[in-house]
Amino acid sequence: MHWEQYWDVTPTLSSFGDSSDALGYPEKLLNFWENAVKSYGSDTHYLDLGTGKGALAVWIQVLLVRSMLGGSVKACDLANIDETKISSGVDELDEAIKHVEFKFNTPLERLPYPNNQFDVLASQFGFEYSDWDKSLPEALRVLKDNGELILMLHHPDSAITKDCIGGIRVLNWFFNENILNDVTTLIDLKLRNENIPFARLNEEIIHKLQTFKVLDSAEQVWFLDVMTKLSKLIININHESTKALKNLEEFIGKQITRLEDQVSVAFSKEEVTNRIKKSQVTIKSLKIEDFFVDGELFCWKVLLKK
Ligand SMILES: C[S@@+](CC[C@H](N)C(=O)[O-])C[C@H]1O[C@@H](n2cnc3c(N)ncnc32)[C@H](O)[C@@H]1O
Repeated sequence: MHWEQYWDVTPTLSSFGDSSDALGYPEKLLNFWENAVKSYGSDTHYLDLGTGKGALAVWIQVLLVRSMLGGSVKACDLANIDETKISSGVDELDEAIKHVEFKFNTPLERLPYPNNQFDVLASQFGFEYSDWDKSLPEALRVLKDNGELILMLHHPDSAITKDCIGGIRVLNWFFNENILNDVTTLIDLKLRNENIPFARLNEEIIHKLQTFKVLDSAEQVWFLDVMTKLSKLIININHESTKALKNLEEFIGKQITRLEDQVSVAFSKEEVTNRIKKSQVTIKSLKIEDFFVDGELFCWKVLLKK
């Protein structure tokens, strides 16, 4: 299961590892959840669906403590995540982690909680990966009457989805053009001291790399990331290099799978509405809106009331 491997090597609490915030979320998103928690008030019981390493659950717990609101936070995820590896290096967050009740190996399609247990169910880029026909009735089963389900879902036109599509194109290019196979041969030639064929192949690889046209700055980041890793390998070829290249190849393959998965769950508004209808749940209201961060489309904000 690729999420387990992902979380195993991801040190941050969320899948937004490149952000400067310890939780990994952009400020606008943190503010959105802060306003939501304040509006729900005291003694509210939350469940974070598809929590990963718990960024959202931990943030809600921090907010409950900061505003002395009482209440509780539970969180679950299908992946088998080692809870002892959930830490942030920030005292306030690490204290909050201790108070979130995590359950892993837990599919959203079969929640291990009694009926009518939670006031608010929340999900940040988690729920969309589940089978809605099963997970939505389950979510509503554990939600109290008049309780709310807030889903922040991937959007097909968001900057995140566009970045994923760019990443897929770039990473697949390295495979399609056999660059990694060429580098394997290059390593062999170097280790066998075949200097002339080495120099020729090196030239050919450089030439191939120069033919790739990046379409935007996001693609450039993906391209440079692989290039940096490959350059490091080529500059210092030794007996470990073939193994290092295999690891890089595996890593790129997993990245592609993850990005493709992410793009496949970025549903249109119509698809979101149809999925809700198809799951045949009874709800009091439904709102689906665009959510922007720094002027860029970030995700869907879906608010559903039981
Ligand atoms: C993009 S990550 C988001 C994690 C977290 N909410 C965050 O903001 O960092 C998606 C998560 O959904 C989980 N997931 C995917 N399918 C699931 C399912 N059917 N039931 C429960 N969790 C699921 C994955 O294991 C993964 O941790």
